[in-house]
Amino acid sequence: MERWALVTGAAGDLGRAIAAALAADGWALLLADHPSQTARLGETKEECAATGALTAVATFDVTDHDAVSRAVASFAQQHAAPAAVVANAGIQGEFTPIQDYDVDVARRVLDVNVIGVFNVLAATARLMIDSGTAGSMIATASMAGVNGAPNMPAYSASKAAVIGLTKAASRDLAPYRIRVNAVSPGFIGPGRMWDVQVARQAAAASQYYESEPEVVERQMVEAIPLRRYGSPPEVADVIAFLAGERSSYLTGVNIEIAGGAL
Ligand SMILES: NC(=O)c1ccc[n+]([C@@H]2O[C@H](COP(=O)([O-])OP(=O)(O)OC[C@H]3O[C@@H](n4cnc5c(N)ncnc54)[C@H](O)[C@@H]3O)[C@@H](O)[C@H]2O)c1
Repeated sequence: MERWALVTGAAGDLGRAIAAALAADGWALLLADHPSQTARLGETKEECAATGALTAVATFDVTDHDAVSRAVASFAQQHAAPAAVVANAGIQGEFTPIQDYDVDVARRVLDVNVIGVFNVLAATARLMIDSGTAGSMIATASMAGVNGAPNMPAYSASKAAVIGLTKAASRDLAPYRIRVNAVSPGFIGPGRMWDVQVARQAAAASQYYESEPEVVERQMVEAIPLRRYGSPPEVADVIAFLAGERSSYLTGVNIEIAGGAL
């Protein structure tokens, strides 16, 4: 029988790389993203299907508890409960110091990044428990949640919460042989988030970064001991490792994928 992996944020740069890595490991894929991203999600599906992977798509807003539950339950009825879940959808919010940060943007960042992960883990855990499916869940956190990133108070808070949520869920789900881990990527590129981050940190005019994007890019890379930013496949490979049996004794951990970032 096929083993299905759910990937949220599958239309995005990391989501696409995660889907490819899981497909290479033989997973059948339920690829999910926001309803506004149907076209990009279709591209991810095509790329995976071209490698021979069995694929299906679902669209929902991760902040909508009922929509998430309905979508995964209806999928499980037709196919099976997923045996791997990658809660990867997320947004960065604005790049502004806390004293000027818009509280509505902060609420939205927390809603998508924390409640979104909560909804995905909760809905799929219920299905896995009810169907006796053991497996693995992975949440995409961030080094911002470990160390705090300048001009990103809401994002940093949300990703710290994702790490806490992961650890708590790992305790709750261990009795059902469901492992729950997080990954914390550092600077990852190329991709939308890298470009946006460089441009917005430059525009934010803080003591941490200069105002020219090329200089900011150099400053970020120089802060990494390995002296380069990471690539989406380098994150995806760690997630694929966590999804499969090679990581069978790991649960409740947060793996930093950050080139040794201090
Ligand atoms: N790229 C990096 O440098 C980096 C570093 C650390 C952590 N991360 C995390 O990795 C994850 C993926 O990031 P990415 O670089 O692929 O970014 P991305 O913007 O390319 O992809 C994020 C995806 O999440 C989806 N999404 C956003 N809000 C949603 C919602 N409400 N409902 C459903 N889907 C929604 C978007 O449509 C998008 O396809 C995010 O959680 C991000 O915070 C990225």
